[in-house]
Amino acid sequence: MAQIKLQNIAHSYNANAKDKKYALKPFDMTWVDGGRYAILGPSGCGKSTMLNIMSGIVTPSEGHLLFDGVDVTEKTTSERNIAQVFQFPVIYGTMTVHDNLAFPLVCRGYDKSFIKAKVSEVAEALSLENFLSQSARKLTADQKQLISLGRGLVRDNVAAVLMDEPLTVIDPDLKFRLRRKLKEINQKYKSTLIYVTHDQNEAMTFAENIIVMDDGEIVQIGSPAELFDRPKTTFVGYFIGAPAMNFFGCKAVNSNTINFNGTEITTTTDLNGIKNKDLKLGIRSEYIRFSDVVGENTIHASIESVDDWGNHKLVTADFDGNIIKIKVKRETEVPTDRAFLMLPAHHCCVYDNEILV
Ligand SMILES: Nc1ncnc2c1ncn2[C@@H]1O[C@H](COP(=O)(O)OP(=O)(O)OP(=O)(O)O)[C@@H](O)[C@H]1O
Ligand SMILES: [Mg+2]
Repeated sequence: MAQIKLQNIAHSYNANAKDKKYALKPFDMTWVDGGRYAILGPSGCGKSTMLNIMSGIVTPSEGHLLFDGVDVTEKTTSERNIAQVFQFPVIYGTMTVHDNLAFPLVCRGYDKSFIKAKVSEVAEALSLENFLSQSARKLTADQKQLISLGRGLVRDNVAAVLMDEPLTVIDPDLKFRLRRKLKEINQKYKSTLIYVTHDQNEAMTFAENIIVMDDGEIVQIGSPAELFDRPKTTFVGYFIGAPAMNFFGCKAVNSNTINFNGTEITTTTDLNGIKNKDLKLGIRSEYIRFSDVVGENTIHASIESVDDWGNHKLVTADFDGNIIKIKVKRETEVPTDRAFLMLPAHHCCVYDNEILV
């Protein structure tokens, strides 16, 4: 394992062209040894480019890559000792499952008893132990992907295991079990795992830290709770959560209060210096409460609809043309006509030019 540092890295696939376009804009990032990360973002935002720069498939057009302080920017994939798992399984169909798993170790000259022990340990972790003598070609698509994963995991000295949407070919129930398994493997082997996905649920249930990307940029790095509670940009607020965060136009009226459609809402944000600017108030639908009375931070809205989401209700309300989504437990009584909605101060996020103040 190693600490991986990306120093002022940027990449353009047409670096010499006049209309140079960055697939990855310049950034710095350090991946902590043994960390469990997800890279999350919409299609084309640069996730695979970032991963391929770390593994050496792509040489960055700018910046340096350091493994434990050693510059590996010009080193080949094999010299970097990185394991990479792709969207579709890469296996040797003519070999048995055992030989597929053993292959990375055989190539590196490990002795037979070590290989045997390691292969059976990883096969057991991935529930492949009963298939070891079978030809890999005969297995199902998801078992083949398990073999790809296993080939990354048998090498316990790799700098990191990089996975690019590895569970796309796998059914949802098995996906869930595999993500749990990957977590266990991360805890057991202390291997740095970096998992690329555009599915927020996959990212949230897998990673300690999520790197949210948009249009070639890292927009936020944080735990699932941090991304949920304090999205750094309105993009993160829209992208994370179901439904997306509520956003409304507002203005600051004093150091911690905003005016939202004529109602003053107290926040815990220091708003000094941004008075009279057009701002946005962001609040999660999960944090809005129904109130019986007018009080601090309450607005009076009309109820438009109530949708049954199984264990939740999703209420849509209208506050003078602002559509507000409120997510409540299914047993919550929802008024039928008009309702007071309470917006707790510490859950009110204020955005200036789409960035959290
Ligand atoms: N080999 C290439 N040549 C030229 N442009 C490329 C190449 N690979 C990727 N790109 C462009 O670089 C940008 C980032 O692509 P990348 O594949 O890293 O995105 P991604 O986040 O992995 O997307 P997806 O979720 O669809 O896999 C996109 O605009 C893409 O079109
Ligand atoms: Mg990709």
